[in-house]
Amino acid sequence: MEVFTENQTLSAALDPYRISKKIGIVPTMGALHEGHLSLVRRALNENDCVVVSIFVNPTQFNNEGDLVNYPRTLGKDVALLETLQGTVFVYAPKAKELYNNHIVSRSYNFGSIATEMEGKHRQGHFDGVGTVVCLLFKAVRPHTSYFGEKDFQQLQIVRKMTAIEKLPVKVIGCSIIREPSMLAMSSRNKRLNAQELQAAAVINKCLRMAAKYFREKSISEINTMVSNCFKQSSLTLEYFEIANEKTLKTVKRKRKGITYRGFIAAFSGEVRLIDNQKLS
Ligand code: PAJ
Repeated sequence: MEVFTENQTLSAALDPYRISKKIGIVPTMGALHEGHLSLVRRALNENDCVVVSIFVNPTQFNNEGDLVNYPRTLGKDVALLETLQGTVFVYAPKAKELYNNHIVSRSYNFGSIATEMEGKHRQGHFDGVGTVVCLLFKAVRPHTSYFGEKDFQQLQIVRKMTAIEKLPVKVIGCSIIREPSMLAMSSRNKRLNAQELQAAAVINKCLRMAAKYFREKSISEINTMVSNCFKQSSLTLEYFEIANEKTLKTVKRKRKGITYRGFIAAFSGEVRLIDNQKLS
């Protein structure tokens, strides 16, 4: 499998697919796992070829340590992609080329979907995500793109960026792939030892508990249950929020006719993990 680092050679490889064929893209930062592969499989089913971009995007990290420690495993990633059936192009650009020598984020006006939860706790993160996904869409010019619901807020940001930039790219949200413990698969899980991995199951356990009691208990009662559950674990809860699924505005009280989702960010040591689940 060829790894394209330059836009020009990737473009030439994609040329035959421009007329009457469909090009899909799965943007990633590498350290691929089953969660990523599920996106690539779906993309392969729905397109004639799929570009998997592997690029650890500097502008979306608000923590230098996180950027430095982010696992980089290109050889392994390519080997995993080679196990799939279908035409995959790996695009691993250099930051300077992708950003045209100007490695900074564009400042977007995403509204409430960018100011709550991840937006509050990771300053500038979504501008970085919006910017890099826009650059990738412009470089690859795909018909369809695939993003995981694991990063639910990011998925909404990408939808909004695509509308703001008027890019003709369809954005598809894909379900969350989990470990047997129900922990959402994540490249960051590779930084946890066996004991920490087991303990991290508390994140989804709390989301399932919130879903179970969502109808009968108030949001403040659910908040207390979740915070007590974390106190008995070795993880530190950064936030638990229940938000309107459309606006992502966090709520203190339920209203009829609105669909909600629970969102959690928590630390296992220095490793920050997120997850979310529909509540109904
Ligand atoms: P990364 O964390 O590598 O994730 C790439 C894609 O895989 C994202 O759409 C993410 O939601 C999806 N994904 C990760 N874990 C998943 C899981 N357990 N189940 C389903 N999908 C999962 O997200 C990013 O990279 C970056 O922010 C990026 C969009 C590439 C921009 O730099």
